[in-house]
Amino acid sequence: MTYETLLVEQRGAVTLITLNRPQALNALNSQVLADLIAALAAFDADASQGCAVLTGSEKAFAAGADIKEMATQSFADMYGGNFFAGYDRVTATRKPIIAAVAGYALGGGCELAMMCDFIIAGDNAKFGQPEIKLAVTPGMGGSQRMARAIGKAKTMDMCLTGRMMDATEAEQSGLVARVVPVADLVDEAVKAAATIAGMAPLATLAVKEMVNAAFETTLQQGVVFERRLFHGLFGSEDQTEGMAAFVEKRPGNWTGR
Ligand code: HXC
Repeated sequence: MTYETLLVEQRGAVTLITLNRPQALNALNSQVLADLIAALAAFDADASQGCAVLTGSEKAFAAGADIKEMATQSFADMYGGNFFAGYDRVTATRKPIIAAVAGYALGGGCELAMMCDFIIAGDNAKFGQPEIKLAVTPGMGGSQRMARAIGKAKTMDMCLTGRMMDATEAEQSGLVARVVPVADLVDEAVKAAATIAGMAPLATLAVKEMVNAAFETTLQQGVVFERRLFHGLFGSEDQTEGMAAFVEKRPGNWTGR
């Protein structure tokens, strides 16, 4: 399958999705969204694929939603058309997605990175929510996901001043999981994704679901939800295999059942 604005490649059990609108620093227009939804749906449905990596170029992961596309839109266009609602389908992907961010991740670009399950940043990464400078606000969940990731003080700072945060500050704040030299970014992210793709598939889905539940529930509800998923995995063939493999000192051989 080929896409107008994405390059998609399978490296073993890892799907590498590269945003490819270099002339606009990967600004996210409607075509990018349509391509992304299609590519992620294909990834989710492909049993040979266990984890995705979403990346951009060395200069820009994505410099935001496409300002030129939005510039002439009215309230009726945006609200009536439910602009950006399609991004909910990105977050509905059930298998894990790692964002590998080099260069600018601004506005919608930062929001898209935060929709992924975790971020690995190149050491040249710059994150920001500069929408305030355009007299608007984050609109793809940025204020909410950033506040949950790094807390109120820094989120207010980022969204009200529109300043950028470098990779070191992003790691110290908890926005990104790891920082690596930018030259190694894609290889490191694919390596992490291959590790994830090598785990038992049902347990992997369960981890993603339970960690995400932490942002939707009380602690007590979340702990019960976690325990029920944990209990449920004892109905899987892979649990029997995983524990037998440990006892027999050999790698597990997963069936996804
Ligand atoms: C459309 C964009 C774009 C964007 C860059 N380009 N960002 N086009 N939408 N978000 C285009 C430029 O117009 C230019 O095209 C080309 O990409 C290269 O960009 P330059 O500005 O020439 O590059 P540079 O000088 O290196 O500066 C890089 C930059 C700057 C600092 C990232 O491009 C920038 O500030 N971009 C906008 C960042 C931003 O405000 N993002 C938030 C968007 S709002 P031409 O054809 O002129 O050469 C958003 C909303 C989310 O995301 C939801 C709520 C509305």
